[in-house]
Amino acid sequence: MYTIPHLVLPQVKDLHRIDVYTSNGGYDQIRKVLSGMSPDDVINEVKASGLRGRGGACFSTGLKWSFMPKSNDKVKYLAINGDESEPGSFKDRQILEYNPHQLIEGILIAGYAMGITKAFIYIRGEYHKWVRCAEDAVKEAYAKGFIGEGMKSAFGTSFSMDIIVHKGAGAYVCGEETSLMNSIEGERAYPRFKPPFPANKGLWGCPTTINNVETLAAVPPILAIGSDAYSKIGAAKHPGTLLFGLSGHINKPGVYELPTGIPLRDVIYDIGGGIPGGKKIKAIIPGGSSMPPIHPDEVDRVLMDNESLKEFGSYIGTAGVMVMDEDTDLVKVLLRLAHFYHHESCGQCTPCREGCGWMEKILKRMVKGDATTHDVDLLFSVASNIEGNTICALGEGAAWPVKGFLKKFRSEFESRVKPSREFFSLNVVHGKESTRNQLILTQ
Ligand SMILES: Cc1cc2nc3c(=O)[nH]c(=O)nc-3n(C[C@H](O)[C@H](O)[C@H](O)COP(=O)(O)O)c2cc1C
Ligand code: SF4
Repeated sequence: MYTIPHLVLPQVKDLHRIDVYTSNGGYDQIRKVLSGMSPDDVINEVKASGLRGRGGACFSTGLKWSFMPKSNDKVKYLAINGDESEPGSFKDRQILEYNPHQLIEGILIAGYAMGITKAFIYIRGEYHKWVRCAEDAVKEAYAKGFIGEGMKSAFGTSFSMDIIVHKGAGAYVCGEETSLMNSIEGERAYPRFKPPFPANKGLWGCPTTINNVETLAAVPPILAIGSDAYSKIGAAKHPGTLLFGLSGHINKPGVYELPTGIPLRDVIYDIGGGIPGGKKIKAIIPGGSSMPPIHPDEVDRVLMDNESLKEFGSYIGTAGVMVMDEDTDLVKVLLRLAHFYHHESCGQCTPCREGCGWMEKILKRMVKGDATTHDVDLLFSVASNIEGNTICALGEGAAWPVKGFLKKFRSEFESRVKPSREFFSLNVVHGKESTRNQLILTQ
């Protein structure tokens, strides 16, 4: 079957303890980097590995790092995104709990590569357990001299970096990178306009890189096995391993580290143990709630990497695979999602603020049986008017599932509406006897 390299979540007991991590080769890669590689060597190695961000947008990590200015005129920052608030995404917390030192090592390597001396690990405030996991690991690493001034003697280097664990403000939008920066600065978590991009003007106006927890935890193994070997794991255009979060109607839900490009069918049946009660699949969301769904007729052909999913009108997102069986009411599913996005919209942009509310209202009408035929097209039109017209991608996150479900499961929505009997058009009739406006009923 597959060789599954456990690069991000190795199966080692108590790996979250620094002594266990170091006795399994932990912190060897930062030592190697500091003793013989230039910052550009590191960036080129990460670029060559083909690593792409695991936070949803799938952007090349090495390329992102190369955008940071080389000069040290200003302080440079790294923000590590552990907000993880999208429905269906629950994989970063596994790293914080089971392998936090690999994340810290990845942060130090990224810091050295970009000349960054301060990093913030941003974790959603309500995730007390994982905030504690991160704080404990950071404390242990400081005590060993692996973070901060101690690095100079521990690794015989002039480079040092500080890491601060920052509790988030408890909203989905805080995970959007510019909103996250406002939140760290103590401001309201409103997304910022781009440009300027964070590499030019980020935290407190200084150059900043934002990376997802899983992205940075993947860096030490890349240096350990080499970019060439890493680039050969999984799909060529989106290589490596991904932490797939399986949820919904599946026998063995959980987080599994698997190579990119694995067939969706294998993820569901071989890894996830199939659908409870042997039921059929009705729909699958492949990468967290913002991603358009996969139709059951497509399941046998879908490979789980970003480029392959594009052929089916979707994306890998955060690799949160949500499975829905044949008894699922997709109209109710979409209503639940629309409610989430409406609730989480920060309200800055009219299309997102109003559009998310309208989508929720239309879907509520459909669920109650009060919707009419034109509501199906109206729903699609509202979603289309949000997409591409907002400051941040929460708008797309709200619109894509709506458009995707309507494209692939239209009949399910049509079966929930009544004919548009009361569709009026206003016609002004100037009769001899009367100049009163009359409403002419048209179909
Ligand atoms: C509404 C919204 C929420 C987001 N939430 C997260 C999140 O919780 N974690 C994350 O890593 N990225 C999240 N992102 C994506 C980030 O903006 C950013 O692309 C990512 O952190 C970059 O890291 P990467 O290049 O390592 O993937 C979110 C984006 C949007 C629009
Ligand atoms: S798209 Fe929505 S969440 Fe993003 S800035 Fe605009 S209103 Fe706020």
